[in-house]
Amino acid sequence: MSELAKPVLEGEGGSDYERYLRTDELLRLQKTAGEWVHRDELLFQSVHQTSEIWLKLAWNEIEEAERLVAADELAAAIRLLRRANDCFKLVTSALDMLEHISPWEYTEIRKVLGHGSGFDSPGFKELRRVAKPLGDAFHAAHERAGLTLAEVYTRGREYEDLYQLAEQLIELDERIIVWRVRHFKVVQRVIGGDVIGTQGTPVEVMGRLIHHSFYPELWDVRNDLTKLNLPE
Ligand code: HEM
Repeated sequence: MSELAKPVLEGEGGSDYERYLRTDELLRLQKTAGEWVHRDELLFQSVHQTSEIWLKLAWNEIEEAERLVAADELAAAIRLLRRANDCFKLVTSALDMLEHISPWEYTEIRKVLGHGSGFDSPGFKELRRVAKPLGDAFHAAHERAGLTLAEVYTRGREYEDLYQLAEQLIELDERIIVWRVRHFKVVQRVIGGDVIGTQGTPVEVMGRLIHHSFYPELWDVRNDLTKLNLPE
């Protein structure tokens, strides 16, 4: 073995790759074949566990972006929000994998989930915690610049960073909504739209969450802008 292939880091595993990434521990986080009630549990756990990791990155970037906006470091905040928004693309496309599970066979997996429900997703809980303060920091920033929300748009070329920040916020809102729409369709496809979830919420009630928005004022301002400049 060449000197460079020998591990120098502390930890479990025969290489620094395994030690740094803690792959032994990571790959023990899924049930083993002997523990499965159905082999698709590996797919099911993989989608959920990887989604939690991307959501963790997303909310950490959003929280840091809020701090940067409060310090008027808008370009740095925009950089992080672009990244957070791409996390939602990954989490949304991961939902495609769940449609490889047969709805009949999923009924077996469902039996071992207890009262486990996405309402208790740590990633989504943190997202709900950090999303509003980011919106508040954005509004405080445009007010400090002496602009109304509509003026962030009408004078967007003069205030490029504020405009770009507003667009990152609505992008975040839209990607969460798109995730919810997609999740709703996956749920309908796998367990049906007329049943109740593992925590008792009717799927149809959960579906109404697709109308929820973290930043409704950013959607409303579009109406004002259109009305402001209607043809004579
Ligand atoms: C076959 C796969 C899935 C099924 C059948 C399913 C089903 C459900 C159901 C029925 C609910 C309503 C609450 C309840 O359980 O009573 C729910 C909520 C939720 N699920 Fe899933 N889900 C699936 C996959 C996922 C994945 C991969 C995630 C990613 C983290 C996720 C995250 C959530 C969240 C965050 C909620 C709360 C509602 C919201 O914020 O929109 N679910 N899910």
